[in-house]
Amino acid sequence: MTTVMYGTELANKMRSDLKDEVEALSRKNIQPGLAVIIVGDDYASKTYVRIKRNAAEKIGIYSKVVEFPEDLKEETLLDKINEFNEDENIHGILVQLPLPPQIDERKVLETIKPEKDVDGFHPINVGRLSNNQPGFIPCTPLGIEKMLGYYGVEVAGKHAVIVGRSNIVGKPIGQILLNNDATVTYCHSKTKNLKEMTKQADLLIVAVGQANTITDDMIKEGAVIVDVGNTYLESGKVVGDVAFDEVKEKASFITPVPKGVGPMTITMLLYNTVLSAKVRNSADK
Ligand code: GUN
Repeated sequence: MTTVMYGTELANKMRSDLKDEVEALSRKNIQPGLAVIIVGDDYASKTYVRIKRNAAEKIGIYSKVVEFPEDLKEETLLDKINEFNEDENIHGILVQLPLPPQIDERKVLETIKPEKDVDGFHPINVGRLSNNQPGFIPCTPLGIEKMLGYYGVEVAGKHAVIVGRSNIVGKPIGQILLNNDATVTYCHSKTKNLKEMTKQADLLIVAVGQANTITDDMIKEGAVIVDVGNTYLESGKVVGDVAFDEVKEKASFITPVPKGVGPMTITMLLYNTVLSAKVRNSADK
């Protein structure tokens, strides 16, 4: 029997709990605030930002979206971030990636105050995760950790194989799983014989953005499969990185696309924003 792990189920439950927390904060005259900055006209980025804003407002988080043109000067962006860094009503700052080539992404991410870095991309938060210390954890990997916990998937002692080494998903999910006592292997575009690696996985996380990267001959019977892919086909259909129908037959647990990891990513952004407001509130006391 294969269990399909729907992120929608846990996301709905967590958003309802977060709404209660926001209400409790509002009784103390605190409203969590999220600033989202988007540069350029990329359709997918604009869609994500709209979804993030709607989700935030639905649970009572104040949200402020700033849209800049594609030819923006780096300095203008850094000034805006500094303004939000000093704004008492803003607890989380998110700069939607990717950024246009004239802007240095590292510099931008390092300008966001670590205590408002709800994406968990600032080197201080990256270092904290690496050291297994409290800090902001990037939203997609944090969502995966919560989903595995919700579905009762044991991580300790498992061989986790990660396909993809991005700063947003691959690297941090490896750190999280290592912190939870998994044995972790990273695979990427230069890995020789990917199939030899993926077949060893008790837990396989795939985050490369390429449909059908993982087929049923590449997995072990009973493996747990998490698919982070999100590719729009010309037909308008969204698919993941895993050939779901065939892989599902061999897996013990598997996430679908859509309705898998995606809804958890946005929920974790709300979670980190509420967490930031709570931490600030207790620091002010
Ligand atoms: N672009 C794609 N995913 C993300 C994300 O999680 N955060 C930000 N800021 N940009 C992204």
